[in-house]
Amino acid sequence: MAEAVSWDETTNSARAVKQVVSPGQILEGVLLFQAVVENWENISNFQARPDDILIVTYPKAGTTWMQEIVDMILNDGDVEIRMRAPIHVRVPFLEWPPLMNEESGINMLSKMASPRVIKTHLSFHLMPKSFWEQNCKLIYVARNPKDSMVSYYHFDRMNLLKTAPESWEGYFQDFMQGNVTFGSWYDHVREFWEARKKHRMLYLFYEDMKEDPKREILKVMKFLEKELPDDVVDKIIHHTSFQMMKDNPMANYSSFPETIFKQSISSFMRKGVVGDWKKHFTVAQNEAFDEHYGAKMARTSLRFRMEI
Ligand code: A3P
Repeated sequence: MAEAVSWDETTNSARAVKQVVSPGQILEGVLLFQAVVENWENISNFQARPDDILIVTYPKAGTTWMQEIVDMILNDGDVEIRMRAPIHVRVPFLEWPPLMNEESGINMLSKMASPRVIKTHLSFHLMPKSFWEQNCKLIYVARNPKDSMVSYYHFDRMNLLKTAPESWEGYFQDFMQGNVTFGSWYDHVREFWEARKKHRMLYLFYEDMKEDPKREILKVMKFLEKELPDDVVDKIIHHTSFQMMKDNPMANYSSFPETIFKQSISSFMRKGVVGDWKKHFTVAQNEAFDEHYGAKMARTSLRFRMEI
């Protein structure tokens, strides 16, 4: 089990922490933070409760957006209640290791009252079995790979726990090969897609949420068996919009020290659009990506929109 690493800003221990987070280790084919692998026994033995609600994503798919939506739905759209704590406290990150002065995700969850909402980036085959034994509800959000890659690239630039990408081209190759934390985008989105009919799962797309947030929020409410008046739904749409979340210190990760998320390099709430990849991909990269994507996705019915 990983020991808690104390966070000491005065000695700028970001580098020391980085050593337990990266370069990472492969677990069952998935590159994970070293500290997650060291804490693996606790994670895989996590005891779910039947009313736990899971939010599962490959990184940068709009996890925080869905966390905020679900938290607001469960709290009947109450604007004050959602200001009670930062989003990573309201909806703990299951595999977050005991680092810095932050508690591990598992510790936070063990003390939480039900119903708990839980965030995870774990691949389907790495999920603690208890979630299936307890038949928990799971909301999966998928985002097209080109925008996911661009968003992840900028996130890895500002996330000082990880080694900054050396170049965009290098990152482009690493992403396609699944050589980034949490592994292959392809495997992640496909595994959950295949599993969606066997579990209580709502599979949503970032692009659909951008296109028509009301339609997608209503799907989430139905899945959670929650009915709310129309004006409350409108309030939820408004308060979970990109700009409102960007300005909300309880949603925009500004509560994380700059020594971890250096938002002056790139904001956590960066652009929040579909199609930003066009400003990053060269023509040659786009062709190479499309060919690779075509081969990887040939045998699945799962389809993505790269623009809306
Ligand atoms: P960009 O980097 O493309 O802007 P995650 O929460 O999974 O880490 O995903 C972060 C991405 O979701 C970022 O994408 C962020 O801007 C975007 N995002 C967060 N909240 C959003 C919202 N309310 N509307 C649209 N996009 C949002």
